[in-house]
This record gives sequence, structure tokens and C-alpha cells, in this order.
Amino acid sequence: MERTLSIIKPDAVANGHIGNIIKRFESNGLKIVAMKMIFMTKNEAQGFYAVHKDRPFFDSLTDFMSSGPAIPMVLEGGNAIAKNRELMGATDPKEAAEGTIRRDFAVDKEKNAVHGSDSPESAAFEIGYFFNSLEILG
Ligand code: CMP
Repeated sequence: MERTLSIIKPDAVANGHIGNIIKRFESNGLKIVAMKMIFMTKNEAQGFYAVHKDRPFFDSLTDFMSSGPAIPMVLEGGNAIAKNRELMGATDPKEAAEGTIRRDFAVDKEKNAVHGSDSPESAAFEIGYFFNSLEILG
């Protein structure tokens, strides 16, 4: 069993895709063991994406992530990190495979509907960024 951090991003929340995205996780063996709705400040978004602080898109990305409510959740399952990334598809929805979350629900490369941890190390940091141990129910 592995855990990963997913975020339903502000574009997908605003566009009414919460239920459809959660359905993809639940029907593909990923169990939601923690979830909340939050409205990040710019500072909180910068802290979450600190690894990208030198990228040209950092300012725009953190503006977007603090532009409306988002839903972080912890997903649990076999190979949860890879499984979630497979369900999400490529960063740019134009390059994402058919049937993936980003292909079906994302707006563009930045407003791309969902985030998912890319390694066990980032999953540990990202889960801890939003949830304490009492909020994660196995
Ligand atoms: P995510 O998986 O959350 O990780 C970093 C985010 O930065 C990514 O999804 C996109 O939202 C955004 N991103 C990555 N590359 C670009 C880019 N070239 N232009 C704009 N936004 C990007």
C-alpha cells in the first residue's frame, strides 16, 4: 500500500468536475483516506510549489493556485503514486492520453485540473503540507 497527494485544482472545482474526478480515483482502486476544501493564499501556494520557484511559470502558477478553492486529498492503494499519475495523464491536456483526467477536464497546461505527487519523497512532503496524522484515516 502506498499513499499519494492529489489536488483537484481551482479550475476543475470552478468548472464543476469534482465528482467526475473523484469517480476516476474510486473506480480505479485509489481510496480517499483524507480530503478537505481549502482556499490557499499566494504564500501557501508558493510553499507548496517551492521546488518550482526558479521556473518561469512559478508566479503565474501560484496566482492560479490561490485564485479559488481547491481540494487536496490523500489517495491510498497499490502503486498509488504511479497509478494516480497514469489516471491524470500528461501535464499538458493536449498531450494527455485519451480517457485521462487532464484530457477530459483540464483547461490548459497550467490550469490542468489535478496535481499528483511524482515520487515517494514528494508524496511525504506534500501529504504533510496539508494533513496531520489525525486527519488521515486508513
Ligand atoms: P503540477 O503537476 O501541479 O506541477 C507543477 C505545475 O506547474 C503543473 O502541474 C502545471 O499546473 C504547471 N506547469 C508546468 N509546466 C508549465 C508550463 N510550461 N507553463 C505553465 N504552467 C506549467
